[in-house]
This record gives sequence, structure tokens and C-alpha cells, in this order.
Amino acid sequence: MKKIKQLLWAAGLVSLTLPVWALEGDAQRGQAAAAVCMACHQADGSGLNIPGGESWPRLAGMNAEHLYKQLLDFQQGRRTNATMAPFAQMLNDQQLRDVSVYYSQLPATPASGYQGVDAELLAHGERLATRGDWDRYIVPCASCHGPDNQGAGAHFPGIAGQHAGYIERQLRDWQQGQRDNDPQHLMLAIAERMDDRDIRAVSAWLASQPAQ
Ligand code: HEC
Ligand code: HEC
Repeated sequence: MKKIKQLLWAAGLVSLTLPVWALEGDAQRGQAAAAVCMACHQADGSGLNIPGGESWPRLAGMNAEHLYKQLLDFQQGRRTNATMAPFAQMLNDQQLRDVSVYYSQLPATPASGYQGVDAELLAHGERLATRGDWDRYIVPCASCHGPDNQGAGAHFPGIAGQHAGYIERQLRDWQQGQRDNDPQHLMLAIAERMDDRDIRAVSAWLASQPAQ
């Protein structure tokens, strides 16, 4: 535990000072604005795991502030993705708040992308997610993403029960400098220490865990 604290200090986490906004939005208006989102994120917000392709993340049951931050980042170019950005740009600020509240209130749905992955790889993923690998300075995901990786407040999204293909893609994007909208580069610091096997393992194991 002491070691975790030291590492979090080193990562600047303890001094994290970000605006905490109480998200005001209307779920009913959000549902109407979300009509254009369903083609990919599905009517129930479950998204889709696309093996080898660009998976669509589950939005259902995710923290509303987290969703809103990501949408703003896409809209304003801090997070880049050619598929998603145009849709964030279609909505005005109130609509971004409304869709975020709407998706956050939908019940979480199960993920895929872990089926058929061998038990040894899943066990390696579980170790990384819950205990980390101190020899390589890989902090357990749960130390930031909360108990059982279900998320902690507005800044640490739930990653349990997210599609494996999406988690994998994000970790690789951080490694390659294609995603860098995380506060204080906390995720880059983790992703750059992971190898290909780590990434596949942790993504599959997290996908196999239920989101609450
Ligand atoms: C054509 C497919 C497509 C459509 C339509 C679409 N999205 Fe996305 N969305 C994506 C993809 C792909 C990603 C992952 C992007 C990445 O890898 O960075 C994504 C990511 C997101 C994220 C980030 C989730 C997270 O936890 O970080 C949010 C929020 C989101 N979309 C909301 C929306 C909303 C709201 C709409 C409708 C206004 C919408 N999307 C329409 C494909 C789509
Ligand atoms: C030191 C803290 C910290 C640790 C440890 C950490 N993360 Fe994160 N992670 C974050 C933060 C902060 C964000 C939110 C980034 C943002 O706001 O764009 C994030 C976001 C993510 C996302 C994107 C979620 C989404 O919906 O867009 C994924 C995937 C992720 N982390 C996976 C992992 C995995 C896997 C591990 C363990 C190997 C891990 N993280 C360990 C801080 C951490």
C-alpha cells in the first residue's frame, strides 16, 4: 500500500486538481439527441466489440461526467478519432450534457472480446488489473479505476465490463501517442510499460468482468 501511495505521488495523482462540475442534463432530451449515436453505440448503449477493428465502446451505465469530458475532448480536438469526432461536433454543449446523462442512466450491458481467450492469459490479465507488476512499475489498474475497476468519481472511468477491443485500442493509442487527453498523462505512464501480451491479457480479463 505504501508503495502504491509513493507511485501515485510520483504520478502526480495526489495533487490532481481538476474542475469538478455537477453535470446538469436532461435524460429525455438526451435520448432524442442520441438518435444519431445508435448506429454504433446501439439503442441500449452496449456498443460492439469488433475483433481486429475499431470497437465501439459501451456507454450504458458509464459516469456522466466522464462521458461529457470525452465528448468535449472530441469536439475540441483534445481527443482525436476520425469516426467519433464528427458526431461530437454535431451536438451543442447542452446536448452533450443531455446525452451523457442519458447514457449514464441506462443499465450496464455485458462486454465481449474475452470469449475463447485461454485461462493462462486471463490469469495474467487479472494479476495486472488487481495487483500490478511492481518489478516493471505497472500499478494495478484498480488503484486508480476503483474497487473491482468499476470506476472512481468523475475522473477515473469504470473499465470492467468494457469491450476488450476498445480497451486494447486505447492502450495502444496511448503507447503510440495517439490518445493524450488523460489528466497528467497518467495513462501514458502505465501504457508505455506494457507489452503486447500485457495489453491483450488485461483487456480480455477486464471485458470478462461484469460492470455494475
Ligand atoms: C460511426 C460510429 C459512431 C457513431 C455514430 C458515434 N460514435 Fe461514439 N465512438 C465511436 C468510436 C469508434 C469510439 C472510440 C473512439 C476511440 O477509439 O478513440 C467512440 C467513442 C465514444 C465515447 C468515448 C467513451 C469513453 O468512455 O471514452 C463517447 C462518450 C461517445 N463515443 C459518444 C457518442 C455519442 C453521444 C454519439 C452520438 C452523438 C456517438 N458517440 C456516435 C463510434 C461512433
Ligand atoms: C495512475 C492512475 C491510473 C492507473 C494506475 C490506470 N489508469 Fe486507466 N485511466 C486513468 C485516467 C485518469 C483515465 C481517464 C482519462 C481521460 O479522462 O481521458 C483513464 C482511462 C482509461 C481508459 C479509457 C476509458 C474510456 O472509457 O475512455 C482505459 C481503457 C484505461 N484507463 C485502462 C487502464 C488499464 C487497463 C490499467 C491497468 C493496466 C489502467 N488504466 C491503470 C488513470 C489510471
